[in-house]
Formats: sequence, C-alpha cells, structure tokens
Amino acid sequence: MSNFEIGTERAAALLKEGRVVAIPTETVYGLAASAFSDSAVAEIYKIKGRPQDNPLIVHVSSLEMMRTAVKEITQQAHALAREFWPGPLTIILPKSDKISKVVTCGLDNVAIRMPSHPVALAIIEKSGLPLAAPSANLSGRPSPTCAAHVRDDLDGKIPLIIDGGMCEVGVESTVITLCSEVPTILRPGIIPLSAILKILPDAQLSHSVDSELQEGEKAESPGMKYKHYSPRAEVVIVKGTLDRFAQYVKERGCGDAYALCFDGEQERIMIPSVAYGPEEEPEQQARELFASLRALDRFGASVVYARCPDTREGGLAVYNRLLRAAGFKVVDL
Ligand code: TXA
Ligand code: MG
Repeated sequence: MSNFEIGTERAAALLKEGRVVAIPTETVYGLAASAFSDSAVAEIYKIKGRPQDNPLIVHVSSLEMMRTAVKEITQQAHALAREFWPGPLTIILPKSDKISKVVTCGLDNVAIRMPSHPVALAIIEKSGLPLAAPSANLSGRPSPTCAAHVRDDLDGKIPLIIDGGMCEVGVESTVITLCSEVPTILRPGIIPLSAILKILPDAQLSHSVDSELQEGEKAESPGMKYKHYSPRAEVVIVKGTLDRFAQYVKERGCGDAYALCFDGEQERIMIPSVAYGPEEEPEQQARELFASLRALDRFGASVVYARCPDTREGGLAVYNRLLRAAGFKVVDL
C-alpha cells in the first residue's frame, strides 16, 4: 500500500470511530470529525478552544453526500457547484436533520464545501461521512497552511495529522449564503466576486467583509466578529507608497518592531522585515500570508507594520484576513 492509502485509510477509520483528525485541504488544514456526531463535533470546539457560537463548515465528496446534509440543493447551489466544485467555495443552505446541531450552533442553515485536495476527498469518501472541519489552528491563531503549523498548535491533542504538503490556496474558502434575500458573500476567498457574479448576477458582498461590526450589530457569519488570524504581535496596516511606508517605519522602528512587506522591498526598509509575496500577485500573497504571520511570532515581533495589499478581486481575501489580524487598525499615509 502507498503512503497515500495508508494515511487516508487510517484517518477514515478514526473518523468512523468518532475521533478528530487534522487533514489537508487546498485552502488551509482542517480539523475534521463526523458531521453526524454531536460528541465528535463537540470535541473539535474543545480542542481548538473555539467559541460555541461559531458554526463549522461541512465537507463533502459528492452531491449525493451533500443531499444528506441539506434540505434541498437549490438551482443557485447547483450552478455554483458546477462552476466552482471541487474547490474553495462554501455554500450556506438550510440544513437537514441529520447534521448535528453542534455543527451549526443551533442555526437552521449549514455551510457546505467540496474541497479539491485529493487527500481530503479520499478521506471523506473512505469514511463515507460528511466532515465538519474548521481550520486546524488554535482559535484566534493564523490558519495552518502546512502540517508543521498544525503540529505547532495541536501536537498531543489529536491522534493524527495527515501531511498533504503546503496548501495551494493558503486562505480559507469564499463563504456565500443562499439563505438571505440576495446571495451574499460573508467571507471573501481566492474566488473573486466577479467570478461569482458571472454565475449569480445579483450576488453581493457583506459589508462585514471590510468593515468592523458596529456594537449591537448581529454577525451574518459569526466567525467574522472575532479577532482572528492573529499573531501575538500588534498588527497595523499601513496604506500608502513604499517611500512613505519606509519613512513611517523608520521613525517608529525599535527592537521588536517588524515590517510585513512585499518581495523585493526589504532592502528599502530600515527595520527587520518579512515578505509575503510580490505586490502584484495576490494569489501568492494568499499562499504566504499565514506562514508569514507565524514567522513574525517566532521572531518575537511585538509590533508589525504591514504593507496594504490590493483590496480588489483576489486581494480582498488577503486584505480581509490582515484587517482581522490587525483588529481593524489601519493607518493611511
Ligand atoms: O477553507 C475553509 O473554509 C477551511 C477549510 C478547512 O475547509 N475551513 C474554515 O473553517 O475556514 P472555519 O471554521 O475556520 O471558518 C468557517 C466560517 C466561519 O466564519 C463561520 O462563522 C462561517 O464559516 N459559517 C459556518 N457555518 C455557518 C452558517 N451556518 N451560517 C453562517 N456562517 C457560517
Ligand atoms: Mg478558522
């Protein structure tokens, strides 16, 4: 048997026993358990230290399996699935009774995604179970984009981490709800709004994507209200040209201040820095962002000044994650 077969068989066997296993997906690593089992899913929240009101995404390997998880696969859902699945899109629909209420935190709707990573698909298929899986980090930490990140956060807490290499996408899936009046993107991913508009012309972006919830406002997607993706350091997004950025950090630089900049900029910046991809390549930034935030922690950064990514199309996902890492602190030069 190949390593692929041994690993996926072992993961599927544990999942069938109601255990929790870390698995690779094309976006980020997931902490998976059977979406049918209250106790298995409850274990996920406990291991991550996840707030009890933040529901999980259910991962399926086929539309047949999806049918067991939702009331109905609507026309809109079919159209999205045809275009984007398997892949980094999560669709919210009314849930079936079979899905554990612990997955949805008592909500009537469930988030579903068919990942494209061959290891994830094989594990779902072999277990025969829809798998509830949030990102496999401790709650509040940057999402894991390789098995070593999962180990850093969860070593000793789970029976198995399947290593499927570095995640190709690097930021979590685009989340769209089909349960509101118009289809609404609750979390931007690497699939841009423009691609979704081609399939659902009336789709819109939730304003929570790039602005902070007001006090008393209810989150459409509970996950968006938490400070997230954070390194231990304080993060500040700095908008403006490289020249102004370089001047700004030079004035503020001290021992533990770091810059998070684009490739090729490091020699212009007079404080220690970490690069997260070329300025013009949001997909590469997405791939590197979370690993860069984790590296800044390892270096002991106390403050991180981040160059601002493009906020359009694929860049919006990167900006959205950085904004949350920064607790919405943005300086415009
Ligand atoms: O790419 C991804 O989506 C990764 C991989 C593992 O698939 N998973 C992931 O899960 O990012 P998590 O738990 O870190 O984020 C799930 C997001 C949260 O913002 C949560 O609030 C939202 O989806 N969500 C889940 N179910 C929901 C529901 N029924 N209604 C509204 N939002 C929901
Ligand atoms: Mg997460």
